[in-house]
Amino acid sequence: MSETPQPADLIVFGGTGDLSMRKLLPALYHADRDGRLAPETRVIAMSRGGLDDADFRGKVDAEVRGSVPVDDLGTWQRFLGRLHHVTVDIGGQDPAGWARLAGMLGGHEHRDRVFYLASPPMTFGPFCRQAHRAGLVTPASRVVLEKPLGRDLSSALRINDEVGAIFEERQIYRIDHYLGKETVQNLLVLRFANAFLEPIWNSLWIDHVQITVAETVGTPGRRGYYDHAGALRDMVQNHLLQLLCLVAMEPPSRNDRESIRDEKVKVLQSLRPVTGGEVDRFTVRGQYTAGESGGVRVPGYLDEPDNTAPTENSRRVETFAAIRAEVKNWRWAGVPFYLRTGKRMPNRCSEIVVRFKDVPHSIFPGSTPNRLVLRLQPSEGIRLNIMAKEPGAGEVALKPVPLSLSFAETFTGRVPEAYERLLMDVLTGNPTLFMRRDEVEAAWRWIDPILAEWDSQGTPPEPYPAGSAGPAAAHELVGRSGRVWHEEGQA
Ligand code: BG6
Repeated sequence: MSETPQPADLIVFGGTGDLSMRKLLPALYHADRDGRLAPETRVIAMSRGGLDDADFRGKVDAEVRGSVPVDDLGTWQRFLGRLHHVTVDIGGQDPAGWARLAGMLGGHEHRDRVFYLASPPMTFGPFCRQAHRAGLVTPASRVVLEKPLGRDLSSALRINDEVGAIFEERQIYRIDHYLGKETVQNLLVLRFANAFLEPIWNSLWIDHVQITVAETVGTPGRRGYYDHAGALRDMVQNHLLQLLCLVAMEPPSRNDRESIRDEKVKVLQSLRPVTGGEVDRFTVRGQYTAGESGGVRVPGYLDEPDNTAPTENSRRVETFAAIRAEVKNWRWAGVPFYLRTGKRMPNRCSEIVVRFKDVPHSIFPGSTPNRLVLRLQPSEGIRLNIMAKEPGAGEVALKPVPLSLSFAETFTGRVPEAYERLLMDVLTGNPTLFMRRDEVEAAWRWIDPILAEWDSQGTPPEPYPAGSAGPAAAHELVGRSGRVWHEEGQA
């Protein structure tokens, strides 16, 4: 692994799509601006679009330039000069398209070659086979797979086999962009570069953990994808379970590609299965109806504007999911991990809340347990709520006050977007923050029975108005044991 990227050809399949235009190209531009792309590095967008290089550069200029701070036109022009487009239709047999790509890559076999598949998972296998047939997979090639990898365990196994038939595991980078977020990285540093937390990071001291990823956005224009995904596949199977792993994992022996992933997979394998009748007790699914979001009236999921009309799948798909999970090992026995994610929630807020146990014997009235809040977005930071005495004479009055670290205030300078960090890791050949095959499969193994039970019930998810905190059942899920969800702004 080298720190300075070598000359590379980055081939983005789905290169004119939403992910490419909103995330990948801005991330690459920032990397270029900071001098982290080798001068020869090229970005080759691959699509069915029939564009030439000039068309593609014009499209990026029109659609991306406004979203990145272009303070220096020279750098922007240099970035545009790296961009190419090649038309290939992988749905049909398109030997001419592959030959065009081979022509562009020919003579550059010594470069790092990265195939970034920003496309639906069912295209991963066919893409890899066709790229191999066209002679494009070199020993220095890597392939990046976007989530979700499949729609259940059996499709994930099949896709992993298909990709694995062409690429070795060391060449496969399964991306989960949450692992590239600054606070997620900081969670590892907080846990494993500070001694004070480790002795209390267990069931003796911790009452429960909450992991929330709440979004205010809905799903306009995404029905084709979302109807077949839902919150469990789209967010829980990957992002939320990865966060759970980082909270629950044992200290790895090294900060290297396998040690961290070895520990994460052990957490996934220790998750207590939620099956059959337990699914109703330990999970909640909801779908938003019309309501108010950010002071604006918004439609319900079924009425979101889209090219296609709602189907039976639309009526059954969940836009909110909550689960009570348990990690069955010595450290965590008896500590619930509550996971929650939803669209059209009142605030955009992703955070991990670790609720400590109450003092064993309270001599002051009004004390509340300590809480460690790791805020992923917005306003990344870490906050520990402790009890303090309110100044004043007379009776001792307690107040929870935060010990707080705000990244924006403490560290100045630009914080790279998750995709930027991860793309740089692919280009420098560092897979630590990518999911290994066994991790993805272990996550599906835990999710599958929940999906199966939801499917077999055939009932629609519980409605919740857009802008509300989700279905009532989500509050009952934590409330049954006398707990409550931590809400935004709560001390
Ligand atoms: C994606 C999901 O993986 O993550 C989207 O497909 C979701 O549905 C997005 O909106 C959230 O990412 P972020 O970085 O905005 O929290």
